[in-house]
Amino acid sequence: MTEQIERSLVIVKPDGYRRGLTGEVLRRIEAKGYTVVELAVRTPDRERLAQHYAEHEGKPFYEPLVEFMSSGPATFAVIEGHGCIAGFRALAGATNPTEAAPGSIRGDLGRDWGLKVQQNIVHGSDSAESAAREIGIWFPES
Ligand code: RTP
Ligand code: MG
Repeated sequence: MTEQIERSLVIVKPDGYRRGLTGEVLRRIEAKGYTVVELAVRTPDRERLAQHYAEHEGKPFYEPLVEFMSSGPATFAVIEGHGCIAGFRALAGATNPTEAAPGSIRGDLGRDWGLKVQQNIVHGSDSAESAAREIGIWFPES
């Protein structure tokens, strides 16, 4: 049991947005019992993506990742609830949609498209530190 109410940054990435999956992702978040406390649709700019993905700079998929993430609108949400950081990562499933378990967002709705970077529908913060950092980047006013 976690005592602190957590917040996590969720992004429905441009592939998910284009495919009309924003509602389905938010439905699963709410059905699980988490609360959506911030919501915005915007096309991610390269400057903030560089901050967001700083840990991946220099990796072979970094440039394709920034290119993909800036390719169109995405839905940004802050969700809230006890354990929601790990809980949303479980809802999302494994990074590689081919390996993501059926029942998860990536397992049910994603697939490998043979591109330079995995287009896997959603992002979710991976720790409390990442969540605070990422929410500060995308919702500085919150
Ligand atoms: P996310 O940050 O999006 O929630 O996903 P994650 O933690 O499961 O994955 P991470 O390792 O942080 O990688 C960030 C995103 O980069 C793309 N990626 N593609 N080998 C590949 O093709 C590859 N590796 C990573 C994915 O879009 C991944 O979600
Ligand atoms: Mg990650």
